[in-house]
Amino acid sequence: MIRIHFLTPFAKMVEAVITESILGRAASKGYVMYEIHDLFTFADAPHYKIDDYQFGGGSGMVMKPEPIFRAYDDVLKDMPAGTCPRVIFPTPDGRLLNHAFAMELSREENLIFINGHYKGIDQRVRDEIVTDEISIGDYVLTGGELPTLVILDSMIRLIPGVLNSYESAQTDSFTSGLLDYPHYTRPEKFRGHEVPKILMSGHHKMIADWRLEKQKEKTRERRSDLWKKYLASQEIGVKNG
Ligand code: ADE
Repeated sequence: MIRIHFLTPFAKMVEAVITESILGRAASKGYVMYEIHDLFTFADAPHYKIDDYQFGGGSGMVMKPEPIFRAYDDVLKDMPAGTCPRVIFPTPDGRLLNHAFAMELSREENLIFINGHYKGIDQRVRDEIVTDEISIGDYVLTGGELPTLVILDSMIRLIPGVLNSYESAQTDSFTSGLLDYPHYTRPEKFRGHEVPKILMSGHHKMIADWRLEKQKEKTRERRSDLWKKYLASQEIGVKNG
């Protein structure tokens, strides 16, 4: 069972998502346990401020270090001595999230997500506590909750047993290094568009070949970066095989 801790000023936003759908089901099936830690409860009375002006001037507030350090210490005190959980800080200047990283996270026992807001968080939190700074893409969101939930969703579904066989992650885009092939369901004819005949042939080998061809086509057209990696991995496979 993996334990996920959220250090956030917007507890309700996180709660709304983790209690629903597959993230919620993963918890009720015992694969994951979520704990939300509201940063306001770790701020100083009487104002319970979690942000302040930045030194050196400039627009935008910065999240204060004390509430985050206190919340972090509070989480750590309930873990066995010597536990050093990975601490994820979603930020647009982090390393780009990908399938390999989601897979790596899905194998951890404890994870702490720190959700930043405003202009960001005091650098000392990043220097002292954070182990992984992760971006979900080259655009800026208003806070860390949505990127945290994106990272979470991408990794929880990879924990063996979380998805049932219909939802299986085995044939996802990226598992093979290629984008996904097209999928069809009933009806066979819809508004003049027919499902490709090959899928109705019952010929498993031909269907698999057709799907792989579609994957290659799509990857070559849309993602030259992935396509180059795929070609390189095929060459290595040929040399080693
Ligand atoms: N916080 C704000 N924007 C973000 C992004 N693109 N990725 C991760 N965290 C963020």
